[in-house]
Amino acid sequence: MRKRIFSGAQPTGELHIGNYLGALKNWVALQNEYDCIYCIVNLHGITLPQDPLTYRRKTLDLAKIYLAAGVDPAHSTVFIQSDVPEHAELTWVLSCISRMGELERMTQFKDKMQKGGGNRERAGVGLFTYPVLMAADILLYQTDLVPIGQDQKQHLELTRDLAERFNRDFGEAFVIPEAFIPPVGAKIQSLADPAKKMSKSDENAAGSIFLLDKADTITKKIKRAVTDSGTDISFDPARPAITNLLTIYHLLSGMPKDECVEHFRGKGYGDFKGELAEVVIEFLRPFQERVEQYADDDLGAILKSGAEKARGIAGETLAAVYRKTGIK
Ligand code: AMP
Ligand code: TRP
Repeated sequence: MRKRIFSGAQPTGELHIGNYLGALKNWVALQNEYDCIYCIVNLHGITLPQDPLTYRRKTLDLAKIYLAAGVDPAHSTVFIQSDVPEHAELTWVLSCISRMGELERMTQFKDKMQKGGGNRERAGVGLFTYPVLMAADILLYQTDLVPIGQDQKQHLELTRDLAERFNRDFGEAFVIPEAFIPPVGAKIQSLADPAKKMSKSDENAAGSIFLLDKADTITKKIKRAVTDSGTDISFDPARPAITNLLTIYHLLSGMPKDECVEHFRGKGYGDFKGELAEVVIEFLRPFQERVEQYADDDLGAILKSGAEKARGIAGETLAAVYRKTGIK
């Protein structure tokens, strides 16, 4: 039997090339070898306030982005989290074996609480239990591998801890999943501040290249991208800005790293940025055309059959969990 993969992204904000290079690109590459399940995690999305009038639209648009990136519904299961109620149900059971202390240590929770003003009295409980819902997503499908960016690694470790704890205390119900973090591209940094990751929730849109950005916007953002001192175009941990830009070039052009360095030897930032913009634009153009192609009707059928397939698997896991805990 093929090993199982599960991953997901939130329908909040616009996806950027960091999401693509850190996650989506690998989802697509793994499809032929693994049994893949890709979820639009709309229950996670509401841990921060969303506009109810546009949230459903954004959820469907994210499904189009998955498909345009190359997720093939003939091979992989694509569905919306809220269509499979087992996610919320297992979250409850797992939250009963989760500890306040371990959730308080999650850096994403601490960051998001800080961003919201750092007031514990006002921080949402959903932000706190977010990783438990993520654990439920993964564990429901007896997942072997979880392709994610670096920022989600801690959540995956918690998922493993919860699975091990449940298996130990109630009997084997879950496969212990492993993270799949790409060797390059797991952390694409902001163009405006190479010390920060490229992030959907960044107030400064100049730091991110969104998958739906138009050519002139891309050119402008790359031209204005922060660079380091020094002139040569190379991968150098001491020069994070150029390393980040060159990594984007390397991953989107497919040119091996050493060839990239060779290619830009003797050239200046101006030439490099021009070529980088071209590579990004040429990559995104056909991608954006594909996004436009999907009609909502086709999407509806894909998501419905995805949810049915997902429920088949999730239902079995939840039934076992309810049996083992004496709930049923
Ligand atoms: P999210 O946007 O938080 O739903 O994230 C979707 C996926 O993109 C997750 O697997 C993240 O780890 C990944 N991701 C988010 N930001 C970046 C980034 N700047 N570089 C690489 N991967 C990222
Ligand atoms: N927390 C992930 C993120 O923000 C999204 C996510 C939710 C996820 N459930 C998941 C990723 C399960 C992988 C597996 O990026």
